[in-house]
Amino acid sequence: MHANAANRLLHHYRATARDLPWRARPGEPAPDPYRVWLSEVMLQQTTVAAVTPRFLRFVERWPTVEALAGAADEDILGEWAGLGYYARARNLIACARAVAVRGGFPETEEELRKLPGLGAYTAAAVAAIAFRQQAVVIDTNVERVVARLFALTAKTDVRAAAEAFWPPEHSGDFAQALMDLGATICRPKSSACSACPLLPDCKAAALGTPEAFPAKAAKKAKPHRFGVAWWSRHGEAVRLVRRPPKGMLGGMAALPGPEWCSEQPAANPIAIVRHEFTHFTLDLLIVPADHDEGWWQPLAELAKVGLPSLYRKAVDAALAAEREPRLAA
Ligand code: ADE
Repeated sequence: MHANAANRLLHHYRATARDLPWRARPGEPAPDPYRVWLSEVMLQQTTVAAVTPRFLRFVERWPTVEALAGAADEDILGEWAGLGYYARARNLIACARAVAVRGGFPETEEELRKLPGLGAYTAAAVAAIAFRQQAVVIDTNVERVVARLFALTAKTDVRAAAEAFWPPEHSGDFAQALMDLGATICRPKSSACSACPLLPDCKAAALGTPEAFPAKAAKKAKPHRFGVAWWSRHGEAVRLVRRPPKGMLGGMAALPGPEWCSEQPAANPIAIVRHEFTHFTLDLLIVPADHDEGWWQPLAELAKVGLPSLYRKAVDAALAAEREPRLAA
């Protein structure tokens, strides 16, 4: 792609950039690094539509990285509930505290990379967007656009191609232009090539098969796992525990229960909920039982504690089963 095409894309972005609460409009001063970092962490594996209201709540509650660094783990994890990938939230807490101790975010990709939880992508995105450094920012949307532009089947070839055409200035706008293009025009399945400013340069479009790039890896079958959740009721309250700090849903509030396993447990559930994690499918069997670890959580105040989606679904299913017993013998 030559410089003209890069310029065309930047022009297109300046005219069409999505108005998102962590962004500065093209031409305005750079956005707050705290908001850029927080949004980039939230946007990993989660869509802009799902992130936007959650981001707004987060920054209203903790408007600065220092405020976030001073908050209790449980409050932050509770506010994260439902966004999934809870290791991100635990890293977020560690990173906020490291940044508060050093007195602010570092400005280079290399220094950003040293902060807890900042991988190559996030460090490049914060350096480019918040500090206007030159950095090549590759997420799945950018990867797809670049693979199509150069008709690359192998994702491993994308970085070198991106580095070769990345402009020396306006890295942040350029990265976000590619992200927006990937989200709105160069979509995975139904690409809208006629609206694309890069159409004259796009090799995959010229071949007539843009969706064939990049080649998809064969999907592996997901393993199946099982869990039991004890359903312990006392009046209008339910017993909850906090999960151990490491591992799946680490540190999150949950229904009590033994560790998940790969064999279907012999149990007599009142309800079963199925939940898709990235690397396995879980069937959670909800079984009435008395339990004395943890605390009684009033049902009317469940939202305050911030249950992850799995346990939110489990509570809903158990309450529905109590109203209308079907599975129970
Ligand atoms: N996805 C990840 N980062 C993004 C950003 N800054 N704007 C839009 N979508 C994104």
